[in-house]
Amino acid sequence: MPANFFAKFSDFNLGVDLGSSFVKIFAQGKGVLFFEPTAIARQKKKGGQIVAVGKRAQVIIGKEPIRIEVVEPVEHGVIADFDATLDLVKYLFSLVRQTPGKWLRLFGPQVIAGVSCQATEVERRAVKAVMLKSGAQEVFLIEKPMASAVGLELPIDSSAGSLLLDIGGGTTEMAIICLGGIVLHRFLPIGGKQFDESIISFLRLKYGVLIGRATAENAKKQLGSVSSRALTPRAQVVIRGRDLGSGLPKSIRIKKGEIMEALLPNAQKITLALKEILEETPAELVDDILKKGIYLTGGSAQLPGWETLIAEETKMSVVLAQKPQETVVRGCGSLLKDKKLLNRVKLVAGLR
Ligand SMILES: Nc1ncnc2c1ncn2[C@@H]1O[C@H](COP(=O)(O)OP(=O)(O)OP(=O)(O)O)[C@@H](O)[C@H]1O
Ligand SMILES: [Mg+2]
Repeated sequence: MPANFFAKFSDFNLGVDLGSSFVKIFAQGKGVLFFEPTAIARQKKKGGQIVAVGKRAQVIIGKEPIRIEVVEPVEHGVIADFDATLDLVKYLFSLVRQTPGKWLRLFGPQVIAGVSCQATEVERRAVKAVMLKSGAQEVFLIEKPMASAVGLELPIDSSAGSLLLDIGGGTTEMAIICLGGIVLHRFLPIGGKQFDESIISFLRLKYGVLIGRATAENAKKQLGSVSSRALTPRAQVVIRGRDLGSGLPKSIRIKKGEIMEALLPNAQKITLALKEILEETPAELVDDILKKGIYLTGGSAQLPGWETLIAEETKMSVVLAQKPQETVVRGCGSLLKDKKLLNRVKLVAGLR
């Protein structure tokens, strides 16, 4: 009997986006159920016990006791630590299993998971293996830009091309979609985490002060922008860190422009890649994209100023998605109900 025979009877089929910063899980009929940091805390010894998962693990980062390590098992969009990813996904699936449902959950769920266009066959198989070992009956893999296009309800079958730009936690991925397929794509190992690191090194060099990752991320969300014309929630903030000279705590006042200065080199790498992909795009498709604008998704798309920076560099307008971090997982979730479309866009055996 085929595995999907059982999956049809499951009322908890799932869409999964295993991101570098957050794992998102969509449950059929329920929507986005889990949105947890991709982090797990475990004892350092071999086969060490899990101490905390998701949010609870993330808050320990930078203050771990000696015997505990916090692992962020997905790096630049691919699984870097298989066992830790498996522990994390298994745990989240067990929570989904505990949510109220119509039927007894005798069978595992059908899972649709997003993978990067750039991921190798081995990396894609690792995603599939994690889902199967976590209890899935059947797994389909979808390229994330395609999932995002479905999540945004774009007419992906249409002959009019769309350009999607996803600026996430550890990756930036851009793709042109037309007639249900990916025409061109580009991948950069740059996302929110790299933006945070650039703030850390900027402040270290300019003020000789070392700050933690969480402080850098907070400063980015309050002051960060990629264009001087963008409005940010604040104009300046006081940041606490450690003076590298004296080793003592030190507070510094940071202005909006300084954070922008730290973020711009990475932001410009993204616009450069965008220009390159547009240069390679057939003229008819560029015309479609000009009319519709570039669809912007991913958590880091929320940094103010992308619209201005992209318009200055490419003369294109942008459309920022609503809930930009959820487009991939919502697309995977929509495909659970649309088998016809799923059959057209799924990857076969981890390959195109
Ligand atoms: N308001 C905001 N302003 C700027 N950055 C933000 C904001 N909200 C979230 N972020 C950043 O978004 C990033 C996470 O985005 P997202 O959930 O799209 O990543 P991901 O899907 O886990 O990663 P990836 O797709 O790169 O593997 C984090 O680095 C976070 O700091
Ligand atoms: Mg993502």
